Amino acid sequence: MEGSPTLKFPASERPLGVLPAPAPGEVDRRIVRLEGISKRFGSQLVLDDVSLDFEEARTTVVMGPSGCGKSVTLKHIVGLLKPDAGEVFYDGRPLSALSERELAPVRLQVGLVFQMGALFDSLSVQDNIAFPLEEHTRLSRKERDHRVEEALATVDMAGSGHKLPAQLSGGQKKRIAIARALVLRPRVMLFDEPTTGLDPIRSDGINSLIRKLQREFSVTNIVVTHDLVSAQRVADRVVMLLGGKVAADGSWDQLAHSTDVRIQHFLTGTYERIDDENMPETTINPATEPKSKRRPTSQP
Ligand SMILES: Nc1ncnc2c1ncn2[C@@H]1O[C@H](COP(=O)(O)OP(=O)(O)OP(=O)(O)O)[C@@H](O)[C@H]1O
Ligand SMILES: [Mg+2]
Repeated sequence: MEGSPTLKFPASERPLGVLPAPAPGEVDRRIVRLEGISKRFGSQLVLDDVSLDFEEARTTVVMGPSGCGKSVTLKHIVGLLKPDAGEVFYDGRPLSALSERELAPVRLQVGLVFQMGALFDSLSVQDNIAFPLEEHTRLSRKERDHRVEEALATVDMAGSGHKLPAQLSGGQKKRIAIARALVLRPRVMLFDEPTTGLDPIRSDGINSLIRKLQREFSVTNIVVTHDLVSAQRVADRVVMLLGGKVAADGSWDQLAHSTDVRIQHFLTGTYERIDDENMPETTINPATEPKSKRRPTSQP
């Protein structure tokens, strides 16, 4: 796995689970914190007392079966959904204490690439990317054009500003959706299924781009994905959500060696909902399991 020179805790040394509060005098690098988040839709409890911290300039992959609350988790981080219980902190500030107006600068620092990409079909690539700048900034036309060029170059799509979304391949559309989130120069990027529907080569291009954002711009990436190859490629850390709870939190290798049958079923593509009913609701931390219980697994 690739490392970043800016990281404070290499994956091998970083404590698992919720990170400890920083020592006095130490900078708190937990840029996003979810503390005891619960979210219910009708009778369905989607998130059940979920606590997760995301360290600055790291890439965390969030995995779990369809409907387990991955997109819901991302929406809490940008304040699009409000928790029934618990608190989301951005850079130490509780989002619930912020008015819509105070939330605006936070949203500018957190770029969200939606699950479906969602470009405006009638706008050119240039105008799609410039859209957040027009909405949220008072930059001059010249500065806007410069930012759009910069974002296009970052996603390796320089020179395609005049095209319409219909003229782009699926992978190119994903890149433009990423450029549109990048144009505000965010500190945090949330990716919801960035490689879904792409062939392996184009998927790997997106994976490289995610790593590049971390490496070159110290972006904190939170990547929701079903794509096991992508997860393994980009993750410093993998979080698995199951049954509304954090079922595992650690490096890819730790996840792959987990003895939790639900995790093994997920990684081998045989997850069944019944697994939730058969397993205790405790958070399972692969790192703390005795070595003798671990069994090797084939990598996806
Ligand atoms: N606004 C909403 N109103 C009602 N139910 C919702 C709403 N948003 C999400 N849900 C429900 O919450 C659950 C989790 O949804 P979520 O979109 O987070 O799933 P997911 O883990 O992202 O799944 P997928 O991998 O299929 O994208 C689902 O059962 C979904 O139907
Ligand atoms: Mg989703």
